[in-house]
Amino acid sequence: MISAERIPNNVGLSSNKRLQRALEHWQPKYIQWWRDMGPQGFQDYHQVYVRTAVSVDPSGWAHFEYVKLPEYRWGIFLADPVHDRRIGFGDFMGQPVWQEVPGEFRNQLRRLVVTQGDTEPASVEQQRWLGQRCPSLYDLRNLFQVNVEEGRHLWAMVYLLHSYFGRDGRDEAEELLERQSGNRDKPRILDAFNEPIENWLDFFMFTMFTDRDGKSQLLSLSESSLDPLSRTTRFMLTEEAHHMFVGETGIARILDRTCQLMKQAGFSGEVRRLGGIDLPMIQKFINLWFSLSLDLHGNEVSTNAASYFANGLKGRAFEEKWDDHAVTEALYELEMMREGRLERAHIPMRTAMNEVLRDWYVGDCQHGVTRWNKILERHGFSDRLRLPDRKFNRGIGMFSSLHFDPEGHQLTDADWERRRYEWLPSELDREFLLSIMAEPVYEPGKFANYIAPPQRGIKGAPLNFEYVRTEA
Ligand SMILES: [Fe+2]
Ligand SMILES: [Fe+2]
Repeated sequence: MISAERIPNNVGLSSNKRLQRALEHWQPKYIQWWRDMGPQGFQDYHQVYVRTAVSVDPSGWAHFEYVKLPEYRWGIFLADPVHDRRIGFGDFMGQPVWQEVPGEFRNQLRRLVVTQGDTEPASVEQQRWLGQRCPSLYDLRNLFQVNVEEGRHLWAMVYLLHSYFGRDGRDEAEELLERQSGNRDKPRILDAFNEPIENWLDFFMFTMFTDRDGKSQLLSLSESSLDPLSRTTRFMLTEEAHHMFVGETGIARILDRTCQLMKQAGFSGEVRRLGGIDLPMIQKFINLWFSLSLDLHGNEVSTNAASYFANGLKGRAFEEKWDDHAVTEALYELEMMREGRLERAHIPMRTAMNEVLRDWYVGDCQHGVTRWNKILERHGFSDRLRLPDRKFNRGIGMFSSLHFDPEGHQLTDADWERRRYEWLPSELDREFLLSIMAEPVYEPGKFANYIAPPQRGIKGAPLNFEYVRTEA
């Protein structure tokens, strides 16, 4: 079903005039934000071959066409309802799910929706200059696909705010367009979303690791007792998968090319001389974006997390796979600092829910890194990439005031200061990356020297397809 409405949707917008008016009032502000803070230099004269969700059935959410970015039809879609859905965990387990927000959980739920919503426009802002340095039209198109879908995710959260949170919700929807990534006075809520993404190695690592935190959060929100939140986030997950595909295959293609260049450089590892990205640089960016994304999961021990779980607001990833959904007695074992020493400790699992979700996240990241290492193996190299210890470079949680190396050994402040750029990107590293990305590649079928072409094009189109075209 192709909807011809101004705001494509499957929430019966045309029969809810109040909501429709509210969203049509918000829409021009959104478009203005997109023009000001979205992809710079690609607003008016370019058409992009993107996927637009026009319904939630398999044929509908992957509808491809050329559009000018500001004319993309951002819609509101909820996954189909589950018949007789019941609360699956926490203190209200077994009761019917909620179709309205219970008064006593209104603040907590609003905070969850706003925090999720804030990340969506933030990432578009962070990535707005990347089009000027793209490695190919194929990659440029993928960047814009991710951007428009993050825009749609913002729409999804704004729909919830307008529909279920009254006046406060409407105010929050406005503020989502007012905060800005990296802005000193009005920054985005979470730190990783205030970091600049100025080169394509940042971008691919962000979509690999930070979009995967998005997946963590969406999985846990899709378990929510608030049914509209559950259905909204369930549909967002289908789009999120593509973002992680962009990140994982982006790095895979860089690795492939790096291996070729390493051979050309006589197995010396001196690929920078040949304009490629060396393995130590790739490892540094893994260290950076993995640690920033670990922080997004919150404190190891958290009464907020316990209360979200108890109240049925936020579950674990794939809650149905656990045996015990009440989690009143269960303990969770983790590493803690006690009197300056690392110790194993047991705490009530409800208070460790952030850590439980982080475990799922680390496992999911590890699968991706293992797949990257297969590329090194296939090329006959013994080097391997790896995730740093989860205590490394943390800005949130009990390890944030201490320093650890990527193996998890504690360091003094002085050692950390002396050695941090062995493990994290330095200014010089970033300058080098900008130097090899300075010239964008806009010729169909051409790829920058530091990245291999993908295995196939988009939706069966060839690699030399004009994924982004200028108007004749
Ligand atoms: Fe998103
Ligand atoms: Fe995403």
